[in-house]
Amino acid sequence: MTQARAGNMTQDTNAELMDRNLAMEVARVTEAAALAASRLVGRGDKMAADQVAVDAMRSALNTLHIQGRVVIGEGERDEAPMLYIGEEVGAGNGGPRIDIALDPLEGTDITAAGGPNALAVIALTDEGGFLNAPDVYMDKIAVGPGIDANILDLDAPIADVLAKVAKEKGGSINELMVCILDRPRHEQLIADVRASGARINLIGDGDVSAIIATTDPDTGIDLYVGSGGAPEGVLAAAALQCIGGSMVGRLTFRNDDERGRAERWGITDLNLIYTTDDLAKGDNVMFAATGVTDGSMLRGVRRYPGGAKTSTIVMRSKSGTVRRIEATHNLNRKNWLKSI
Ligand code: FBP
Repeated sequence: MTQARAGNMTQDTNAELMDRNLAMEVARVTEAAALAASRLVGRGDKMAADQVAVDAMRSALNTLHIQGRVVIGEGERDEAPMLYIGEEVGAGNGGPRIDIALDPLEGTDITAAGGPNALAVIALTDEGGFLNAPDVYMDKIAVGPGIDANILDLDAPIADVLAKVAKEKGGSINELMVCILDRPRHEQLIADVRASGARINLIGDGDVSAIIATTDPDTGIDLYVGSGGAPEGVLAAAALQCIGGSMVGRLTFRNDDERGRAERWGITDLNLIYTTDDLAKGDNVMFAATGVTDGSMLRGVRRYPGGAKTSTIVMRSKSGTVRRIEATHNLNRKNWLKSI
């Protein structure tokens, strides 16, 4: 073997090691945000819950040996003082350049009300790997693994899409369970899905967790359909790249300000339909989420005097490994946890 090739191998091995270590480190980032938010569960103050999660996630991110850039974050710089789009995070130190999509508290209303499926979420990839999605709505259809992505058609009548999904699954439409956000804007969609014969699981919030639920037969959710946040679409796509499954999404705009936001982020075709790959490029994506409240994928934070338990899922698209981490935290012993 030539020295050059040996050198490359060492580099590859180092890069791979760094990826693997990073996958473990990101779990601490979502754990920190979830632990912080857990203090505010059920207290009726969604802004406070979001703020403590943002603070905790930012502090934890700044300990990672990466040169990170927030691509999907808390908002544009003038509206979000921390974890804004474009903010540089990480300890640097010659670490890899990484793009980050994050939501320190996905489900702020859920947390305030003590409801199900609130998460702290983060996804990492190589520079340029995530769509710079503006904070507007996105029409989405998502399914778990084993379904041909070409049948996910946002322009076809929903009954036709459901018929195709049912056929691919080897069953009938009547057996399908479709998850939809319970919103007035979905009135017609809900009526059409019901008319097709499919069943509906209406949820109050949290479409990242709903889209991931389509990948796990135990949840009983076959499909996610409807309009939710575009940033959440990118986070969900990152998870699907790791765990399997596919989605399509198209940005929707309510006014010129929203169209302007998209154009500022370099989006020229406002009607484009994005695939999973367009939202989160597939080869080197990491995704981590820690439950804040109990949900279909993860248990929420369990707090007790002096300590807390967290449940986290970490996935990598490169290896396809899905790792679940159950952690017991001694809140008295770790300095970084004392304030959380
Ligand atoms: P927040 O965490 O920002 O409260 O978002 C929760 C959520 O339900 C998302 O999961 C979803 O994409 C979005 O809100 C839907 O937006 P809206 O509540 O405006 O319908």
